[in-house]
Amino acid sequence: MDIEQLISEKPLLHSDENGLPVDYSINVQVIKALNGYLKPGMHTLETGSGHSTIVFANNGTHHISISPYADEQLRIKQYLDGKGIGKEAIFLNGSSDQILPNAPEIPEVLDVVLIDGAHRFPFACIDFHYTEQKIPVGGIFILDDVHMPSVRILYQFLMKEKEWELVQKVKNTAFFKRVAITQIYSDWQGQEMNSSFKKLSALKGKISKPIKKLLKR
Ligand SMILES: C[S@@+](CC[C@H](N)C(=O)[O-])C[C@H]1O[C@@H](n2cnc3c(N)ncnc32)[C@H](O)[C@@H]1O
Repeated sequence: MDIEQLISEKPLLHSDENGLPVDYSINVQVIKALNGYLKPGMHTLETGSGHSTIVFANNGTHHISISPYADEQLRIKQYLDGKGIGKEAIFLNGSSDQILPNAPEIPEVLDVVLIDGAHRFPFACIDFHYTEQKIPVGGIFILDDVHMPSVRILYQFLMKEKEWELVQKVKNTAFFKRVAITQIYSDWQGQEMNSSFKKLSALKGKISKPIKKLLKR
């Protein structure tokens, strides 16, 4: 299927508060960018589902899509069936915080991960936590809606850390590439986000010892 077909058809795959079909899908430019990262045979996963699921499936990846909404998943399956694609796609029904740590279907290596599920804090961080260890060097981590405070905190973290490189930002979607494995050598101390705090703590230690000595005199 030509991805332009999806863009022009704009199928309504989500449900509004009354259960009626509505479209909450990612931006068209993001669809095009995502399409460029995918190759047949890749292992891919997304939290949330919609047009992005069709992009993954259309590229022949071994795809896993996680959403708690069965009606949404059914509409996506029906759309895929209508196009004769996505037979390989696995739809896991449930909340990502429950599914990600427990589902045996999720492989050990994930080439591309898209986080676009629940947007309330700390879901993006939870989704990141359970998927990032599976992304090898060269793998892609995509974070949608980085303008939202509850997601932005993860975006800001990733922008600082040496293991991740921002390769592209399309609208409010950030595409990161893993450039190094994460080595945890002393818990929080190796993370860039804590570097100022670490320096300050060391400085405080140096200053407070002589002051305490002086006060004892
Ligand atoms: C903005 S939409 C995703 C759009 C999708 N990426 C697309 O391109 O159409 C948000 C998605 O989050 C999903 N969602 C909501 N709560 C969730 C949860 N707790 N775990 C996983 N997914 C969740 C919804 O089912 C919905 O598919």
